[in-house]
Amino acid sequence: MSKKEVKSVNYGLEKIFEGAQDFLPLLGTDYVEFYVGNAKQAAHFYKTAFGFQSLAYKGLETGSKDSVSYVLVQDKIRLVLTTPLTSKSKINDHIVKHGDGVKVIALWVDDARSAFEETTKRGAKVYLEPTVEEDEFGEIVKAGIYTYGETVHMFVERKNYKGTFMPGFKKWESDYNPTPVGLKYIDHMVGNVGWNQMDVWVKWYEEVMGFENFLSFDDKQIHTEYSALMSKVMSNGNGRIKFPINEPAKAAKKSQIEEYLDFYEGAGVQHIAVATDDIIETVSQLKARGIEFLPPPPQAYYDDIPNRLGEHRDMMKEDIGKLQELSIMIDADEEGYLLQIFTKPLEDRPTLFFEIIQRMGAKGFGAGNFKALFESIEREQAKRGTL
Ligand code: FE2
Repeated sequence: MSKKEVKSVNYGLEKIFEGAQDFLPLLGTDYVEFYVGNAKQAAHFYKTAFGFQSLAYKGLETGSKDSVSYVLVQDKIRLVLTTPLTSKSKINDHIVKHGDGVKVIALWVDDARSAFEETTKRGAKVYLEPTVEEDEFGEIVKAGIYTYGETVHMFVERKNYKGTFMPGFKKWESDYNPTPVGLKYIDHMVGNVGWNQMDVWVKWYEEVMGFENFLSFDDKQIHTEYSALMSKVMSNGNGRIKFPINEPAKAAKKSQIEEYLDFYEGAGVQHIAVATDDIIETVSQLKARGIEFLPPPPQAYYDDIPNRLGEHRDMMKEDIGKLQELSIMIDADEEGYLLQIFTKPLEDRPTLFFEIIQRMGAKGFGAGNFKALFESIEREQAKRGTL
């Protein structure tokens, strides 16, 4: 990892925990697992459209009789796409209820047993007791706890493992290898929770996981003419893991969070934000490969960019016309600026979507874009008849 990247993912948040013992040291995101209806086709989509590479596979050929999983990689991001093979698999229940979506946010740890012990003694609900999996490349220790909804945090200890991904998987060699689009690592993952549940989960991340509430936005800041939401950003001790938590707020029409909760049938992951060093190139590639993004904010938004950038105006390298052409949004805070764009939902249910983000020093989440962004989402909701 280059010096610049270390700076961009750490955010100086170590200071929050100075002097305090971090009882849950997290090294990073290990993988994100989706339960999907047809993993073979989903894998093709994430390779073709998002430039992920084939990494590992588990299925009938490897002795897995119950489910199939495809592991995809792009720089530090690993996605696992899993489908049940029989009607008896419990994975079906998840898909029937939620549609395709994120089941597991796996966290890379040095000691999975300790992570499990520390979090369960603080009240975490058990998903998987510490389990050792072995093959000729060594061993992995896994342990899981539930977070919001049916979503799981899996602690993954891989310091004694040299294989491609995990025991049970074989290396996936494919003749079809579309080029990557420049996605580097997961910047943050956002959870949507129900009415009056945001603070419950903020407290859960504080008490059970030792996270800090690093930024908050109330419904006065995040609202449009029609709808509103509230959001609090939780961060772990070294700042590598950031989980904003959203809940709907009362307004004239239906909050986009409520629409999500209706269609996901409960709390779950709303979006995965992935970082790039060159958003113009990444988004140009994604568009050429068929990814649909939210429509652009109005002309006035782009006309106002020099004002919004303030003192960071001179450091901006990107051409505003080019950003507008690609519908990329821009926001600034005291430390710099950021560029971001949001895909439309990637499933037929209006649930999970991706954000592409390029940080140029800014540590925020694009609060200055919320209004323009949500107006754009509402135009999409209106088309679906769910506003
Ligand atoms: Fe985001």
